[in-house]
Amino acid sequence: MIKFLIAGIISYIIGSISSAHLICKKYYGIDIRKYGSGNPGTTNVLRVVGKKAAAIVYVADFMKGFLVALIAKLIWGDTLGLFCGLFVIIGHDWSLFLNFNGGKGIATSMGVAFALAPKAALFSTAVGIIAIAATRYVSLGSIFGSGSFPVILLLLRYPAIYVIYGIIMAAIAIYRHRSNIERLFAGKEHKLGEKIER
Ligand code: G3P
Repeated sequence: MIKFLIAGIISYIIGSISSAHLICKKYYGIDIRKYGSGNPGTTNVLRVVGKKAAAIVYVADFMKGFLVALIAKLIWGDTLGLFCGLFVIIGHDWSLFLNFNGGKGIATSMGVAFALAPKAALFSTAVGIIAIAATRYVSLGSIFGSGSFPVILLLLRYPAIYVIYGIIMAAIAIYRHRSNIERLFAGKEHKLGEKIER
């Protein structure tokens, strides 16, 4: 029990470190939360700042999920790997350092998925990429990619604990895309490639 508590807290704190916020503040002098979609994540950094910053943010957010989940799994096994993966995503989405607000957790969730269930991660990434290519909406790719993850885990016969993790992860990802879903229905969602003046 104490192991779960300590591992969960450490994962949450690591997840809370927002690369988008830190990089945009330090190197571009802006608060990314005030521009574009307001989301401190790869897609918004791409539309507000540019490709280089977005690539760095993506890698940093992916790696925090990947490393935390992988290290926890190697030391303590699957259940704690998934548990720590979940808490690093929760930290990213409800950051200790951003007044309990944060990103939408897609890059971090992908990191966790590739660390713990790479085959299922590959398929759900493909679903996401196809959705983005077909619609030019990154948010739709994120929603379909994450939504497909528990289904793919089930189809590939991963243990039940993985499927439960996948359902929680997908529910969080879709919940964090509420504003995107509203914009999609209103026809006001930003398309991939749109730039925002800052
Ligand atoms: O991963 C976030 C993406 O799905 C949407 O980002 O900035 O359009 O809200 P954004």
